[in-house]
Amino acid sequence: SNQKKVAALLAKMTLEEKVGQMTQITLGVVGTQVDGEINQEALKNAVVKHSVGSILNVTNHALTVDQWHNLLTKIADEAKTTRLKIPVLYGLDAIHGQTYTLDATLFPQNIGMAATRNIQLAKAITKVTANELRASGVRWNFATVLDCGRQPLWSRFPETYGEDVFIGKTMGAAVIKAYEEDGLDKTTAVASCMKHFLGYSASRNGKDRTPIYLPEIEMREYYLPQFKEAVKAGASSVMINSSIVNGIPVHASKYLLTDILRKELGFNGVAVSDWEDIKRVYTWHHVASSPREAVAMCVNAGVDMSMVPYDFTFYDLLIDAVHKKEVSVQRIDEAVSRILMLKMKLGLFDNPYPEESAKANFGKPEYQTLALDAAHEAMTLLKNQDEVLPLSKNKKYLVAGPGAQSISALNGCWSYTWQGKDEQWYPKDSKTILQTIEDKVGKSNVVTTTEKGFEGIKNFDGDALIKSAKDVDCIILCLGENAYAESPGNIADLALDENQQALAKAAISTGKPIILVLTEGRPRFITNIEPKMNGILMAYWSGKKTAEAIADVLFGDYNPNGRLPYSYPRSSGEIVLYDRKPAEDIREVFNDDIHTGYNPLFAFGTGLSYTTFAYSDLKLSTKNLVGDEKLHVSVTVSNTGKIAGKHTVELYTRDLYASISPDMKRLRAFEKIDLKPGESKTVKFSIDKNDLAFVNAKLNTVTEPGEFTVMIGDLMESFQYK
Ligand code: IFM
Repeated sequence: SNQKKVAALLAKMTLEEKVGQMTQITLGVVGTQVDGEINQEALKNAVVKHSVGSILNVTNHALTVDQWHNLLTKIADEAKTTRLKIPVLYGLDAIHGQTYTLDATLFPQNIGMAATRNIQLAKAITKVTANELRASGVRWNFATVLDCGRQPLWSRFPETYGEDVFIGKTMGAAVIKAYEEDGLDKTTAVASCMKHFLGYSASRNGKDRTPIYLPEIEMREYYLPQFKEAVKAGASSVMINSSIVNGIPVHASKYLLTDILRKELGFNGVAVSDWEDIKRVYTWHHVASSPREAVAMCVNAGVDMSMVPYDFTFYDLLIDAVHKKEVSVQRIDEAVSRILMLKMKLGLFDNPYPEESAKANFGKPEYQTLALDAAHEAMTLLKNQDEVLPLSKNKKYLVAGPGAQSISALNGCWSYTWQGKDEQWYPKDSKTILQTIEDKVGKSNVVTTTEKGFEGIKNFDGDALIKSAKDVDCIILCLGENAYAESPGNIADLALDENQQALAKAAISTGKPIILVLTEGRPRFITNIEPKMNGILMAYWSGKKTAEAIADVLFGDYNPNGRLPYSYPRSSGEIVLYDRKPAEDIREVFNDDIHTGYNPLFAFGTGLSYTTFAYSDLKLSTKNLVGDEKLHVSVTVSNTGKIAGKHTVELYTRDLYASISPDMKRLRAFEKIDLKPGESKTVKFSIDKNDLAFVNAKLNTVTEPGEFTVMIGDLMESFQYK
């Protein structure tokens, strides 16, 4: 068995070889900055002298499939020259498609996938990513992000599944499963990674890698369930939160990494650090008083592999720490066994080379169709005043704003480069919003303004917009955010920058109808301009086919069905989430503009359609649910409009009174249906006490007896739980 093989191999390894396996370096250490070339001497130093277990990353941009094969072949060749011939495991961040192979298909970021509420679709795009990774020879993906998006300032918000725990845990676990379920030795699967354990997204000031203050009751209620489900779904690895939670660096937290992750959740895969984070326990967090103490603390806490990534200090320090008995050989063996086991499951010992046959799975034409399906289903129509949409194909349009001619603002972070901003690497057939609108109505019916992307927006000329709008029937105004990833995406304020606001004001001053198209990773305030926008479409960063999907929705070739996966706030003082506590929901108006309560610009779940849906016949199987019994819920949904449409039916519950002030509502189930005009369907759900549970003051997950409400659409029914 694999276990026996791992034990036998481990028995042959020196301490140095073991510690090498726990070391992960970045490609830059062994490569040049050009097209994935390798520096043979540096490679030998890493793979032979230091026996590194893993390499990650690209140097500065995505590579072709052949360049990947070349690169990985050289690494595999080098590993073959080592005493024990242990293969090197390569890892990448393919978080919305295989982001680091040129021409790979990019799909919506997680936030857009959450808007689709379509688990099967999320699984389908994940399989493509797995295929395109594996076709490139890469077998380990640092995805998916399971951090709950409850802090919209956070620069990694677009990588989350939004603010809701249920969407995060069901879609997150389905994605983890889809990466791995074919069997890791197959060319259609890769090892997944749960990111980032735990609490990373709850940063107090919203900046990347800044302190988190998270009471355990909240951590268990909103941040842990996603990881729990992902472990059950078979995740092979986990990456650790870079920051500190309640003052303790997570990398050094035995409580989180061993007691909760291993003992409570039963996770048995590889725990990898994030970028340079072990060292930072000393340099940033000042919890360890020397680099060696930081290494010992983190390894003892439960980190199996260090994303060092620039040098061999971790290797030297860990060997030293073992000699000084600060880390036991037993702990080293445990970590190395997990790493070897993963390599074995991935088939690397049988064939460490990029698989030639897997190349055929790259760039299949059907991936483009799937990318369009996913982008379509992500599109979320937030406003459609007087049915201004869909637009006529026989009118004249001004397509303006920095998003109109940008490719990077349609894709966002981790798109062929880390920040995703550099458009030269995008596939040549990527289209801008301007181009897809021209495709719909003909070039002669479209005018545009000069701004060509967000970076040059400072040179925007409002007068030019006003002049260009003179003869058009409608303005399509494309605002939002350019791509960003991690810390470079930090912002001080959710407000749209002044230049974009000025642009919107110029558009408003024309008196023409305006359709606002937002391509953004997180909700940027549009409160000031919203009343003057006739239609608003949230497009997120939806990958390769974003522009096509936008144009299809605007011109009625696709009926939108995305639902907002977060509460779109009005202002920084009104960031209240949909599952707020009753005390956050008391709506008092003390003067004209200060509100308390849940008062978002667009509520969680908002998503308009070009047809209408009516709910009727909400039925519960019992009014008295006892013990472990199941509550069967059914509801009839009818398409009462004139065109076919998809629609996600969402079931929420509310616990009326509980020992911990209960959330106002919680999403417990959803199902996406497709209805022709005039058609009705009965949708059935079943929930049980586990779906009604919450974390109590003793940190136990419990369901207390009492009255509950079930809410679907505009209908509501109550029942008692005993
Ligand atoms: O996987 C990522 C992580 O999410 C953020 N820091 C860098 C890692 C490797 O690229």
